[in-house]
Amino acid sequence: MRFRTFFVSSVLLFCLGKLSSCGEAAAPEAGLVSSVYEEPYRPQLHFTPKSGWMNDPNGMVYINGVYHLFFQHYPDSTVWGPMHWGHATSTDLVHWEEQSIKLFPDSLGWIFSGSAVYDQQNTSGLGKDGKGPLVAIFTHHSSDGEKTRGKDFQYQSLAYSNDEGKTWTKYEGNPVLRKPEGTDFRDPKVFWMAGVNKWIMTLAVKDHIEFYSSPDLKSWSYESSFGADKGAHGGVWECPDLVSFLADGKEKWVLIVNMNPGAPNGGSGTQYFVGDFDGRDFTASHTDTRWMDFGPDNYAGVTWSNTGNRTLLIGWMSNWAYANQVPTQNWRSATTLVRELALQKVGNEYYLQSTLLNELNQLAGSTTTDPAALQLPARFELAAIPLQQVEWIFSNEAGEELRLGFDKESNRYYIDRTKAGEASFHPDFAKRLYAPRIAAGDSIKWTVVMDHSSVELLADDGLTVMTALFFPSSLYTNLNAPAVRYTPLESIWKKK
Ligand code: FRU
Repeated sequence: MRFRTFFVSSVLLFCLGKLSSCGEAAAPEAGLVSSVYEEPYRPQLHFTPKSGWMNDPNGMVYINGVYHLFFQHYPDSTVWGPMHWGHATSTDLVHWEEQSIKLFPDSLGWIFSGSAVYDQQNTSGLGKDGKGPLVAIFTHHSSDGEKTRGKDFQYQSLAYSNDEGKTWTKYEGNPVLRKPEGTDFRDPKVFWMAGVNKWIMTLAVKDHIEFYSSPDLKSWSYESSFGADKGAHGGVWECPDLVSFLADGKEKWVLIVNMNPGAPNGGSGTQYFVGDFDGRDFTASHTDTRWMDFGPDNYAGVTWSNTGNRTLLIGWMSNWAYANQVPTQNWRSATTLVRELALQKVGNEYYLQSTLLNELNQLAGSTTTDPAALQLPARFELAAIPLQQVEWIFSNEAGEELRLGFDKESNRYYIDRTKAGEASFHPDFAKRLYAPRIAAGDSIKWTVVMDHSSVELLADDGLTVMTALFFPSSLYTNLNAPAVRYTPLESIWKKK
């Protein structure tokens, strides 16, 4: 449905809507790399495109000291439309530099979500001068095909780069994988599986996941399906990922499945399954539904490729329920902060744990227990305290407030954005959002990162996580919070 809805694409309309920004750009305020990062609601810790629409993070891959982040991008409008792959790079996963657009729509269709790998052995033969290429594996979406055929309009294709991501060439044999009777058939996430010596592709197919394998990234064989009768099915399955961890010395696999709608707080959300994978079949070791992030604004998250023992995930910090309507001016959407994933045992079960990166510390000012002169962005910590009712209130001079806390009786964390600011763009936005406490101990603690228009709450060392947007008419300057440790963080857009 959504794929047919947004065709507001003319550059003219865009410029009229944007007024000031299509003319001469204002000089940046001293200290920031560009004046665009001073716009109302502009995140100071999160990546946003300078202008235009963004959704899912794509093709994240690390090579030679550089973390690449590609993203679903429509440069000609601030609503979803013909998809490109935008590009940003970072050397520390904290500071980002936007690069030129790397993949443009072509005769096979728009460039939907996918992944990228470093084909070190040059299994694809697409390398050069004895060096392996970077290969992007993405979905081509034919909007014409969707209208005329109604099936077989999404297929998987390749693009490769022999200069570490600076320039890309689409593979002439595209597409490399199609399903003639298929409708939702997309978002390939590929990794090299050492033991079986094959590339494995995890693909979202409407209400389940399909696994494919390949010796060379070009020819793919079906292996198995998972999930039609497992987990949550309130919406379409999208953007999967399959990652392995060492848990108590044993290999465990986690299948990440994004789904829209049907998330615990409405709209888009990310569930996961813990289990085993043998190169062919995935089997889950539990029957309950588990969510990676209970907040409404972390979607389409998948992990970086080629990062060794670190499993690093980034998500799109929005929700399809209102992503096209949020009140930002010249751009829409940000990524979440990068999170490091691990498995943590609670009772006899393993749960996914998300923590923030130590790399963030480079932005930190001095920590105090007195947030009298509150300045955002910042990090706030609640040190372990015995289980009890806790509430923190962030507010501004207009009387708008964001509350977050722990409700002892129901054993739930919450973020309340009912009165947080502008919310008229969607009836379900102003809400109190809940998340169950998964940890079992008798104390609670959390880390909170607040940016100008988002909050990330990671409780109990990241066993319960909530990410939520808010749009206050001015920045929050007051905090009423017991037991807080406050650390201001410097903007990532500050000139170095
Ligand atoms: C997820 C998603 C993907 C698709 C992309 C299109 O948010 O719907 O399934 O590839 O966005 O932009």
